[in-house]
Amino acid sequence: MTEITNTKNVDLIIHNVHLMTMDEDLEQAYGLRVNSAVAINNGKITWLGNSNDIEQFTANSIVDGQDQYLSPGLIDCHTHLVFAGSRANEFEQRLNGVSYEEISRQGGGILSTVNATRAASEDTLYQFAKQRTSALINEGVTTLEIKSGYGLDLATERKMLRVARKLPTELACNVQTTFLGAHALPAEFKGKADEYIDLICDEMLPAIAQEELADAVDGFCEGIGFSPEQMQKVFDKARELNLPVKLHAEQLSDLSGAELVANYQGLSADHLEYLSEQSIKAMRDSNTVAVLLPGAFYTLSETKRPPIDQLRKHGVDIAIGSDFNPGSSPICSLKLMLHMACTLFKLTPEEAIAGITRNAAKALGLKTKGTIQVGQDADLCLWNISQPAELAYTFGVNPLTHVWLAGKQSI
Ligand code: NIG
Ligand code: FE
Repeated sequence: MTEITNTKNVDLIIHNVHLMTMDEDLEQAYGLRVNSAVAINNGKITWLGNSNDIEQFTANSIVDGQDQYLSPGLIDCHTHLVFAGSRANEFEQRLNGVSYEEISRQGGGILSTVNATRAASEDTLYQFAKQRTSALINEGVTTLEIKSGYGLDLATERKMLRVARKLPTELACNVQTTFLGAHALPAEFKGKADEYIDLICDEMLPAIAQEELADAVDGFCEGIGFSPEQMQKVFDKARELNLPVKLHAEQLSDLSGAELVANYQGLSADHLEYLSEQSIKAMRDSNTVAVLLPGAFYTLSETKRPPIDQLRKHGVDIAIGSDFNPGSSPICSLKLMLHMACTLFKLTPEEAIAGITRNAAKALGLKTKGTIQVGQDADLCLWNISQPAELAYTFGVNPLTHVWLAGKQSI
């Protein structure tokens, strides 16, 4: 039992719950504390202990959790959910034998969404994004990351990031934004990739940073994206502007992008099916989180799994994201990713749940989220389940009964 305030008067007590603290210093799986309670004040967890010890408090609100499981709010650390248009035609093309890379080389893929997103009004984009974010929230997501990258010109990239920044004003969630100008080469720069990188570094990134529209900088390091040398220029600029970096790396081939982003103390390297042991060691040395994206693996019928055993062996933290986007992962469900991280990647339910709580918070550089501990933000989900693994085991039923965001009940 730990207290950080002298007052016994708190805003909220949730008692009669089993805490999935996800605290890695606790020995029990899931950092489990059975028959427990939490006290919340000013949006923070101020005490946790035995359910029998709550008499010491007076609280404005007391919730009897009725033996349910209380977890940290879920965190989706990788989405592209601001976009317009549909790529169902490409889904159909792929099932008729055309690959994701071929579609991209023919000017479809990301560039098709760029056309639709440039043409859409800010309000249209916002309405789509709001609907998608609500779907995530209804499954227990309290924090999500949203990338730009379907504008590829300053005006549209800003439009996307403004939409992302506006979501928490109407929806109960926290949003972290990422500038992904280096997502694809826009058609008007065909054959002039280095000039586009210069535009990102000299104009787009400084403007985005100046308006404080992005919390981090990302890129797509791949044959159909940008080379490590090009990404290095973007990362140098990000460093100059004090913005942390992350990278779509080793999704379709090994360009050592993960090692590159680790050399910049990157927050995360994402996808990683083709990741090498050398890059894994670099990630370990820089505490760069491995963000695995089972939705893209599944949708693209990828057969090469990320090297999970090697990541375990070297002690690299693993997070899971939805990668929700209209091309490679048109699946707006973190709950399904949790299930697929287990069934497709063979993570244990405990690893997978850590991947959408504690390690997802690390992947976003958020130190006060992702675990239930004194001093942490009171972003919490209450689940009507009989054991923690049930969260990963079933899909299609929603056992979520309550959500609190910064101590305020939102579901
Ligand atoms: O994370 N790999 C690059 N970017 C996205 C896909 C974007 C798209 O196809 O629209 C991803 O999979
Ligand atoms: Fe992505």
